[in-house]
Amino acid sequence: MPKNPRQFDTHRPTAIANENRFVLLSFAGLAKISLQELKKQSDPPVEVTQLPNYDLIELVLTPAEIDNLPRLRTVEDIFWQMGSFPVSKKSDLTKLTSLIQKDLLLKGLALKNRLFHPKKPKQPNFNCFVKQDRDRSVYRKEIANKMVSTITTIFPKWKIRDPASVELWGFYLRHRLHLAFRLSDNRMRYRAQRPFSRPGTLRPTIAAALIQTANPLPNETVVDPMCGTGTILAEGVIFQKRATFIGGDSDPGALVSAKQRLWKHDLCLREWDATQLPLEPSSIDCFVCNLPFGQQYSTAGNNQDLYPRLVGNWLTRLKPKGRIVLLTADTKTMEKILGQLDLRWQASWKVKVLGTWATTYQIWKE
Ligand SMILES: C[S@@+](CC[C@H](N)C(=O)[O-])C[C@H]1O[C@@H](n2cnc3c(N)ncnc32)[C@H](O)[C@@H]1O
Repeated sequence: MPKNPRQFDTHRPTAIANENRFVLLSFAGLAKISLQELKKQSDPPVEVTQLPNYDLIELVLTPAEIDNLPRLRTVEDIFWQMGSFPVSKKSDLTKLTSLIQKDLLLKGLALKNRLFHPKKPKQPNFNCFVKQDRDRSVYRKEIANKMVSTITTIFPKWKIRDPASVELWGFYLRHRLHLAFRLSDNRMRYRAQRPFSRPGTLRPTIAAALIQTANPLPNETVVDPMCGTGTILAEGVIFQKRATFIGGDSDPGALVSAKQRLWKHDLCLREWDATQLPLEPSSIDCFVCNLPFGQQYSTAGNNQDLYPRLVGNWLTRLKPKGRIVLLTADTKTMEKILGQLDLRWQASWKVKVLGTWATTYQIWKE
């Protein structure tokens, strides 16, 4: 958790003071995991705000720490904060014009090019978005229009595009408007691959958070028994290069996508029934999986029947002291089974997946 959230002083308005201020967006609930990840690199002063679907982390970095930002795996987007000011009435928005300056826009673009190496269009194009910390009117339209008209005045040749090479986001938090330049693009969210459209595919940042929680060690064997398109395995092989990863699914179509995603890596992918794994008893160090749940994530079967058969089978394949990390929104079914099996477990963190809160369970075999 933040060392001291108040260390982040949001009341210094000048461009110089904002030089090293950044904003990270993680899925709602994931800030806790993103801060753990960040802490492995550095320990900056931070402040966290909950938006309806995202956790927003404001932080101040030293110039050396800035270069590490693109390595974060649990964060959806990274912004450079150009400045902020209080907004209580419409007329306050005139201050936007003094923050959107030609040199600051070019500086943001240069930082984006340095950190994320985007494909550069012949002529930069732009777009503007506004997010707020709760559902109430905050002149969203007026803020966006003001941003657009100011940029158009400075760079008349820049056209509005989506996605755009220059994206300005206004975050309205605690009655202040924070103006932020988006540094990352969709390659950060989708890991430079086209998103896999199969229902139930996990977002890579959530898969990275599950792997971070499972924390595979060198020489361990880690299994995702319902791997779908292989999102969790793809994060695993990056997190721990010296572990062995195995994946499987009952759907051959899912395995085709998993092979496309993981073709560069030497790992075993098998078609199997996860309730009867063809693996040696007591041979696996760790299972990590997002279970079928909800409408997009569900299977034809019933979780009350499926979950005990899955967990029961995986426990027999686990080594003594092995661990299981699971994500599901069907907490009622999961906790009933965990109680019946008399296991040691904890509910670790929650994340909002497709509008539903899902819980991560860590389970240990004694
Ligand atoms: C929630 S999805 C996992 C998605 C995956 N993490 C991804 O990002 O693509 C659950 C997966 O379980 C698979 N599945 C359902 N029942 C199964 C069973 N009995 N054995 C193996 N796989 C099963 C489904 O085909 C589906 O791919």
